[in-house]
Amino acid sequence: MEYRNLGRSGLKVSQMALGTNAFGTRSDEATSIKIVHAALDAGINLIDTADLYGQGESERIIGLALKDRRSRALIATKCWYPTGDGPNDRGTSRKHIMDAVDASLRRLQTDYIDLYQVHHWDPTTPIEETMRALEDLVRGGKVRYIGCSNFSGWQIVKANAVADRHGWARFISNQPEYSPVNRRIEQEVIPASLAEGVGQIVYFPLAGGLFTGKYRRGQAPPEDSRAAKQGQRFVDRWFTEANFDLMEAMEGVAREAGVTLAQLTLAWVMARPGVTSAIVGASRPEQVAQNVSACEVGLPQEIMDRVTALSEPFTR
Ligand SMILES: NC(=O)c1ccc[n+]([C@@H]2O[C@H](COP(=O)([O-])OP(=O)(O)OC[C@H]3O[C@@H](n4cnc5c(N)ncnc54)[C@H](OP(=O)(O)O)[C@@H]3O)[C@@H](O)[C@H]2O)c1
Repeated sequence: MEYRNLGRSGLKVSQMALGTNAFGTRSDEATSIKIVHAALDAGINLIDTADLYGQGESERIIGLALKDRRSRALIATKCWYPTGDGPNDRGTSRKHIMDAVDASLRRLQTDYIDLYQVHHWDPTTPIEETMRALEDLVRGGKVRYIGCSNFSGWQIVKANAVADRHGWARFISNQPEYSPVNRRIEQEVIPASLAEGVGQIVYFPLAGGLFTGKYRRGQAPPEDSRAAKQGQRFVDRWFTEANFDLMEAMEGVAREAGVTLAQLTLAWVMARPGVTSAIVGASRPEQVAQNVSACEVGLPQEIMDRVTALSEPFTR
């Protein structure tokens, strides 16, 4: 496992992170705890969650899993999504950030969050208010580093410019979607982030599991898969002709390189410029070991270049 500095900071994060949005919903408590322990044992130190996931269940289960091993893990959580029906139960106002961080700390059973992320840009709150609230959390010790998620290039630059103007904590990371079937951040988010010292912790690197090769064009998904559990919503989102075309072409490249499709996909994502860590979800502990094996494959540049060329249409 390689550990990389997250953006322009001294924080070292594993090149693969654990995604936990299935905890407490698609994965029960006992399985989820085993997944966290498998990830730590495999060298993953970054665990990504949000107050949204399982309506707090993901954070609560991570708290249980880390009870006797808190210092081995970096917890990254987020706020923004509604946590109640009230007008202040959402977004990134000072009021909601302060309420949300305390609720996350309680569920996680910890007194600090390693990376606190703004889940989306909040168009109803001045960015000065958001950055000042985050600065206060860092100063007060509840939060150690701050990041954003799903921000555009200008939003990243604007937020950090406000922080710089006042000498406040800056965002060191952004969390966008990125995989061979969605390379849109290469246009603007990555160049802006490289200039700003912001690292990308990317989600959906396996395109929801499509790039494990377990789904075949025109065939019913395996019974225990996310596609079977989520049904039409998943199918509409991922099972496009263009995605299957690319998946099948990459399977050919993987065969030639002597690796699995998932290993090829994850190795390519983790090697892309600006990408610090790839967040991979798992529904059972064995998947963690399979996915972590992608960190060790060491593929030749010629293989990487072929994936880059094949997936070029997905840059727009
Ligand atoms: N910031 C945001 O807005 C945002 C949005 C979405 C996600 N996220 C984060 O990103 C994380 C990753 O998302 P994701 O889990 O959807 O990513 P993904 O890597 O695209 O898909 C992972 C899914 O593929 C399947 N899978 C994984 N490894 C496998 C293997 N070796 N063999 C077969 N199937 C395998 C599992 O589902 P099944 O086994 O159930 O099929 C797993 O849940 C989330 O947990 C969350 O932390 C953030």
